[in-house]
Amino acid sequence: MPRRPHSTSPHDSPRLAKKPKLQHLSPENFKNGVFLAPMVRSGALPTRLFALKHGADLVWGPEMVDKAMLNAERVVDPVSGVISYNGKSRAMFTTHPIEKPYLIFQIGSADPELAVRAAKSVMQDVSGIDLNCGCPKPFSTHAGMGAALLSNPDLLCSILTALREAMPPEITVTAKIRLLPTQEETLKLVERIINCGVSAITIHCRTRNMRPREAALVERLREIVDFVEGLGKGIAVIENGDCVSFEDAKRIRTITGAHSVMIATAAESNPSVFSPTPLIDVEETLIPAYLRLSKYFDHHWGLFKYCANQFHGPRQNVTKAQAQALHQKLSAAKSYDAFADIMGSRTGEDEFREIEEAINSRPDRHHAALKLAEEVHDNAPVSTPPNRENPEPPSLDAPLAPPNARRMPIPSVISGHDAVTPTPGGGVPLAA
Ligand SMILES: Cc1cc2nc3c(=O)[nH]c(=O)nc-3n(C[C@H](O)[C@H](O)[C@H](O)COP(=O)(O)O)c2cc1C
Repeated sequence: MPRRPHSTSPHDSPRLAKKPKLQHLSPENFKNGVFLAPMVRSGALPTRLFALKHGADLVWGPEMVDKAMLNAERVVDPVSGVISYNGKSRAMFTTHPIEKPYLIFQIGSADPELAVRAAKSVMQDVSGIDLNCGCPKPFSTHAGMGAALLSNPDLLCSILTALREAMPPEITVTAKIRLLPTQEETLKLVERIINCGVSAITIHCRTRNMRPREAALVERLREIVDFVEGLGKGIAVIENGDCVSFEDAKRIRTITGAHSVMIATAAESNPSVFSPTPLIDVEETLIPAYLRLSKYFDHHWGLFKYCANQFHGPRQNVTKAQAQALHQKLSAAKSYDAFADIMGSRTGEDEFREIEEAINSRPDRHHAALKLAEEVHDNAPVSTPPNRENPEPPSLDAPLAPPNARRMPIPSVISGHDAVTPTPGGGVPLAA
């Protein structure tokens, strides 16, 4: 993909006039928040920025395998400020200084030394390093990464310990795991992980063999949270699994006692679910803005197209036919130029400025967090919505599930349609 002329200089875009508020993360910053989960492909830079604009407290980048980062060339676009870590043919990971205070970089690794080298290669652009200990896909587990680490706790802990020792104190180290089959095993593993010096632990409340559409076992988390609190280290436990919105996060926190909640699938459909009032009519309110920003960022066309095609939500002004027509056009288009008609008079830079403004004018994190904590105690419903079923036998999970795999149904109030959410494809081409 041709890119604009670039600079390999290590630092920021001169356009970033305002200094981000949050400089370094501490364990406290992992509490009382609602976070964007790591998602291969779907957790691309524009999606993370829209999530931040609409209230995500922190955002995880998509998993990057350690070796892939070792030979990446870091380049900075002097126009937009976008930082790309380029492989031989394309950018493997892109970020922007505006998200740095909130960005956790996730590594896939089965080797402490490689993990440290990969972490060092990106640490100037991120605030934390997370170790993926949950991906059940064979490409991960065959190499001893992801969910394979759950049954190799010595290796898992040696990677976390190496990362903690090698990273400067202002870079947090965290881990994202799944539940183990028994509670006892899970508690043992969690204790070992906490003793590695992590700032937080995310628990995807499914076991390695559970399918994404099986209801997350959130009821199991309460005991784990109490256990971690009992360790007295002040480490945050982040719930992941089946949270569909900011409001729903209150329900999950009430059931589990978790300090924070992380959202994946629902945010893939609509990155504004972090707001108490998520966008509706995403074909008018989100996709054109996402398109403008992606074009301004010179964002990989195929990735844009893939992500934009995941966006769905409740509709008021947009008809079903209009929504379908836009998605068909997205599927058929070959470049950003095909969308001159919906670009409108706003520019991608306008979109970026708006996001920058929203991020810089977010309420003070401490007060926002306290407010969420109070609301959780006062208002949250405690029952699980009726459309969460726990059917079917075990299989593999995201990130690279087959394109037609079934997924957990998202309530229509969020998704705008009752069918299961489209799944990101293993075979989805990144090129147009
Ligand atoms: C498209 C997609 C990509 C994913 N990629 C990753 C990943 O890179 N790293 C990871 O730890 N989990 C990944 N996951 C799993 C999610 O982070 C999350 O654990 C899982 O989807 C459960 O959350 P949910 O119920 O909110 O969807 C991915 C999930 C999806 C849907």
